[in-house]
Amino acid sequence: MGSRKDTRAPWAGRFRKETDPVLQRFSASVHFDRRLAPHDLAGSIAHAQMLAQQGLLTSEEGERLVAGLEQIGREFAAGELELDPALEDIHTNVERRLGEIVGPLAGKLHTGRSRNDQVATDLLLWIRAAILELREGLLGLRETLVERAGREIDVILPGYTHLQRAQPMRLAHHWLAHYEALSRDDGRLADARSRVRHSPLGAGALAGTTLPLDRDQTARALGFEGPSPNSLDAVAARDAPLELLAALSILMVNLSRLSEELVLWNSSEFGFVELDDAFATGSSLMPQKKNPDGPELVRGKSGRVIGSLTGLLVTLKGLPLSYNRDMQEDKEPLFDAVDTAAGSLELLASTLASLRVRDDAMARAAADPMLLATDLAERMVQARVPFREAHEIVGRIVAHADEHKTPLDRLSREVLGGFHPALDLDPAEFFRAERSIEARSLVGGPARARVEAALEQARSDLVRTRAELDRQGT
Ligand code: ARG
Repeated sequence: MGSRKDTRAPWAGRFRKETDPVLQRFSASVHFDRRLAPHDLAGSIAHAQMLAQQGLLTSEEGERLVAGLEQIGREFAAGELELDPALEDIHTNVERRLGEIVGPLAGKLHTGRSRNDQVATDLLLWIRAAILELREGLLGLRETLVERAGREIDVILPGYTHLQRAQPMRLAHHWLAHYEALSRDDGRLADARSRVRHSPLGAGALAGTTLPLDRDQTARALGFEGPSPNSLDAVAARDAPLELLAALSILMVNLSRLSEELVLWNSSEFGFVELDDAFATGSSLMPQKKNPDGPELVRGKSGRVIGSLTGLLVTLKGLPLSYNRDMQEDKEPLFDAVDTAAGSLELLASTLASLRVRDDAMARAAADPMLLATDLAERMVQARVPFREAHEIVGRIVAHADEHKTPLDRLSREVLGGFHPALDLDPAEFFRAERSIEARSLVGGPARARVEAALEQARSDLVRTRAELDRQGT
């Protein structure tokens, strides 16, 4: 009896030797799967109540088990639950502690249940909660983008392709471009969560149990739609963590691209933005420097999340059904990716909210009349000139301007009209960036009215997401 017996594994019956400490250390997971504790306890409480309902426990036994599990929940929340790596994982640790509280009755909790369906259930419950928190963080960043877009609708900057100045647009249109990408990320997270609908509990080790469990009851008690339809799949499947990792990998790629822009824009070469002092760092050697470490780290950490997805895909790909111990390797990459994405969202929301935009530098860059070369060609297209021909003519105008070292907007009306009668126009008016932006008023374009409509749409989407999260969180 006493402490020696306490650390005996729940499966020790057929073994003549204790587990070697080398294997014990190697296989322990409690230092990370402790994060499953609240869900493990919720699953056990649902299971105990169902066992009592089904007459597999007396109702008095059921109540004692539930009270013991609730006590463990309070101990865990207070940081007072002692976790022993020799007991391998969180499930065995909880079982051991329950034994200390309720005595041999604890041995009845495992009726008709295996750690295989238990860990699969815990993991799905953890994922459902994690997705709500991630969507909450994502909502904060989306709100920041929309808020800035609302304020910066009249800030004009060049848009880029190939990192070359391309055409002028509104800064609001740029912020809303990131908003669109992040809204699809939100959709992917919501979608991933909607597929976590079936409870593995009651699948047993792999093929159910001869005992009369009520799987519908435990599934509903835990917030699932119903029990998983196939016991083998229930304990073997890990596509829920894979799907979340895939959604997070795409999210991190989007965050990384936004970060890369902040790094570029914050450089002296661009000078489009300045990070707030509270969200930049200095150099230990060069006193003049103000570095964008936050966005750089988000860019760097995206690699880590992609690595977690890749790692788990590779871990799973060769595994036969159903449970294999390799699958214990699902948790660390998942937990790390969720923490990394949540931290990145928080960092970027604050960084963006406090960012100083240098609208003068943006406007100067956008005033380059070359950015309106396409507009010139389109003016000829309106006079029925085939676009390819118009393109060629503008090419010649650009070469002419180059030769005479004259900016496009300084060419005279006569010179322009000489290239084509449709170009008999007032250059000072034609080469204004605002005119060009307002002329691009088609759906999805940067004209003010279109951006205002996009902002309206975004604001109502955000309200809808907020209401959805409030509903699902309760
Ligand atoms: N720690 C294990 C895991 O995370 C729990 C399930 C163990 N099951 C087993 N038969 N050894 O996957």
